[in-house]
Amino acid sequence: MAKLQLKGLRKQFAPNVIPVKDINIDVEDGEFLTLLGPSGCGKSTLLRLIAGLDEPTKGRVLIGDKDITSTAPGDRNIAMVFQSYALYPHMTVFENIATSLKLRKTPADEIKRRVNDVAQKLELGHLLDRKPGPMSGGQRQRVALARSLVRSPEVFLLDEPLSNLDALLREQVRAELKQLFNSQQKPVVYVTHDQTEAMTLSSKVAILYDGYLQQLDAPHEIYTHPANKFVAGFVGSPQMNLPTLKCEGNYAILGEFKIPLPDFPTMPKQIVMGIRPEDVRLARPETSEATIKGKVILVEDLGKEKLLICQVENSDKNIRALVPYDRTWDELVTLELPAQQIHWFDVETGDRLLRY
Ligand SMILES: Nc1ncnc2c1ncn2[C@@H]1O[C@H](COP(=O)(O)OP(=O)(O)OP(=O)(O)O)[C@@H](O)[C@H]1O
Ligand SMILES: [Mg+2]
Repeated sequence: MAKLQLKGLRKQFAPNVIPVKDINIDVEDGEFLTLLGPSGCGKSTLLRLIAGLDEPTKGRVLIGDKDITSTAPGDRNIAMVFQSYALYPHMTVFENIATSLKLRKTPADEIKRRVNDVAQKLELGHLLDRKPGPMSGGQRQRVALARSLVRSPEVFLLDEPLSNLDALLREQVRAELKQLFNSQQKPVVYVTHDQTEAMTLSSKVAILYDGYLQQLDAPHEIYTHPANKFVAGFVGSPQMNLPTLKCEGNYAILGEFKIPLPDFPTMPKQIVMGIRPEDVRLARPETSEATIKGKVILVEDLGKEKLLICQVENSDKNIRALVPYDRTWDELVTLELPAQQIHWFDVETGDRLLRY
């Protein structure tokens, strides 16, 4: 059983450089876990701890029931694609991809079959006889990817493996990866900055920030029920509106507009209101939802839609709304904030106030 378990993992490089603090995650066979978080939040460090390239300050790594925390990287049977990948410049693409199979004394005809198969999937078939030196960044990155996919390891670790590909190729390779990992049924831990990639590939997403695991959930759950203000602001584009508002009675106050609050056990004095721009609508006349008025101060053309940045009347706060491309509006707009789509967060801790 190749189930991967991270137990209380911590990595401290210096007194105040602790990019991994007490991380507990399980990744089942066939599960695809994506690590998502801002630059420097410890994603690569966490992968290196799993691969055995760095030793944890505390905690354990298990594959199946076996504790591999002190096992040398070469003895872990883990395939890793590095963020900065190095290929052997004197070898052809074929030889680069085949290295690990040769080391394991795989028969020549099987090596040929497996290398050709993976090369085809990653559109490298025509480059097998070339040396990687003069190739483009995207081509070299796919060779590095092929080199680890060709193996049958117990765990796959991939650190931004598609970052150098153009949008179209990224989409193609993404689909291939999905199929490939589906057929392997091994735990995959994948790092990316690309939220579409995270959402489309993963069965689970781990949001990391400040060394801590902020939320671990299915992509849809992360999107619809962010556990705290950080996750709410980090996931989704355009970014969620997250103004801090005063509370009066059962209402949050935005300018001179009142937004009804759910029944909290104790009413806070201030609160963070979260609503995604795609959930803010130009108000329908018959609406029974809370509405606010604002002046459109900026319009961003996103191709399919337009993002209106509106300054709320009698307030210094802006609310962004995504509207269909062909909609028209006056300079002063009325916006509808559907109660079902509003997330409420604690001002001090940032935590979500009601889960459902
Ligand atoms: N060997 C090391 N010695 C000291 N500090 C390190 C070392 N490796 C990483 N760090 C620090 O740990 C923190 C996390 O780095 P890491 O590379 O894990 O971030 P990341 O989330 O992968 O970022 P990016 O998205 O930019 O790749 C950074 O502050 C980095 O400077
Ligand atoms: Mg990194």
